[in-house]
Amino acid sequence: MTYLVNGLYIIAFGMFIYGLMGLTGPKTAVRGNLIAAVGMFIAVVATLISVRHTSNWILIIAGLVVGIALGVPPAKFTKMTAMPQLVAAFNGVGGGTVALIAWSEFINSQGFSHFDEEPTVHIVVGSLFAAIIGSISFWGSLIAFGKLQEILPGRPIGLGKLQQPLNLLLLIGAIAAAVVIGIGATNDGVSQLWMIAVLVLAGVLGLAVVLPIGGADMPVVISLLNALTGLSAAAAGLALNNTAMIVAGMIVGASGTILTNLMAKAMNRSIPAIVAGGFGGGGTAPGAGGDGEAKQAKATSAADAAIQMAYANQVIVVPGYGMAVAQAQHAVKEMAALLEAKGVEVKYAIHPVAGRMPGHMNVLLAEAEVSYDALKEMDDINGEFSRTDVALVIGANDVTNPAAREDASSPIYGMPVLNVDQAKSVIVLKRSMNSGFAGIDNPLFYADHTSMLFGDAKKSVGAVTEELKAL
Ligand code: TAP
Repeated sequence: MTYLVNGLYIIAFGMFIYGLMGLTGPKTAVRGNLIAAVGMFIAVVATLISVRHTSNWILIIAGLVVGIALGVPPAKFTKMTAMPQLVAAFNGVGGGTVALIAWSEFINSQGFSHFDEEPTVHIVVGSLFAAIIGSISFWGSLIAFGKLQEILPGRPIGLGKLQQPLNLLLLIGAIAAAVVIGIGATNDGVSQLWMIAVLVLAGVLGLAVVLPIGGADMPVVISLLNALTGLSAAAAGLALNNTAMIVAGMIVGASGTILTNLMAKAMNRSIPAIVAGGFGGGGTAPGAGGDGEAKQAKATSAADAAIQMAYANQVIVVPGYGMAVAQAQHAVKEMAALLEAKGVEVKYAIHPVAGRMPGHMNVLLAEAEVSYDALKEMDDINGEFSRTDVALVIGANDVTNPAAREDASSPIYGMPVLNVDQAKSVIVLKRSMNSGFAGIDNPLFYADHTSMLFGDAKKSVGAVTEELKAL
């Protein structure tokens, strides 16, 4: 039996890793996801085979049914734009589960004292680590969910200078309570209270760390919490002696850490600076550049935009969050096909943090069956803007903001952006002069060679398409 279970686990791990490799490119992402999901199914089956306490079958099946009933509908019906919240919620559930497993192990073992022999260090340390990190991850993810779902304000909420000392105190408190349990000083009735102290202090720490972080940094935070959940699951796996949990937890921990780093780099934010909080989620009055000058943006029409593009050699489409909101991707594909039929080369410039989740634009454009070869990553396309006749910005804002390159006082200074302003002509499709996620003004919109096509992106693209047909 052990051989069978271990064999199945090894197959599952191979599938996790192979599936993860598929997630590195849009062409293979869906298949990769599916392969990893089948791997997880095999791991669950292997774990069920190895369950010895058959009296728990009803509970296990009830758990599976409840999990499937609660997990499938939101995964199926949540809109693409709300995916980050969903990921935050699912991640929180994972962290909470790990914390509960650690707690229940503790209750079952009455403070680890039920073991015939002394519990090994890895069981005690694994459980306590899982309890602390799982609890931080659960409560932190709840706040991240609340901010993204706009149940909570997106602006940073914190105690200013007192925040860091408070966080440090909470961390020290949680570790100290864990040490009290770990050294076996509590093998009596009060041990439960120490475990509850560990969970509560870590939970408050999770709240205290995420509340002061602004909305714009939330995706990085979710990725960081995701990495933590992975590590806590691995620690719980050590305690439970479950290889699948250890391996899957480490894969999540490692990939979450890499993703966190990549995202922080794309936003030019250091991870400690993000965790220290205070960025994003605020709002600047639209058009207020801070220099006191009243700036005017030029409005244009669909007909004019169509003419400019129809006579261009190359058009670079720059999609952003607004394209996702408007669900304009299919309309964009149709418009691009018309331009291509007129001999215009159309490329898509994909900023790594355009939209609200990693790969957001890739997912939408893949859904509209835009050729993967036309999707260009920021570093590959940035040199091309200066040779491009028209840059068509569709609901993108922050990722095109030249202030990130030029204005040292800008909150997003240093964030790599698409060099849209270097194109010969820029047409921006958005509904108003409102700011984007970072809440700051965008000088691109007031440049001499920029014109604004106001309106919902899908409607505007549709109107341009009609004009192109008439040309
Ligand atoms: P944003 O800077 O957020 O700008 C999106 C723009 O779309 C807004 O200015 C809005 O202007 C416009 N818009 C909204 N609905 C629209 C509609 N129906 N039709 C047309 N336009 C519409 O987006 P971005 O340039 O993609 O940048 C992403 C930002 O989000 C960055 O600051 C990034 O750091 C942050 N962020 C990224 C992620 C990831 S991982 N991708 C996750 C969270 C946050 P109007 O209201 O005037 O229309």
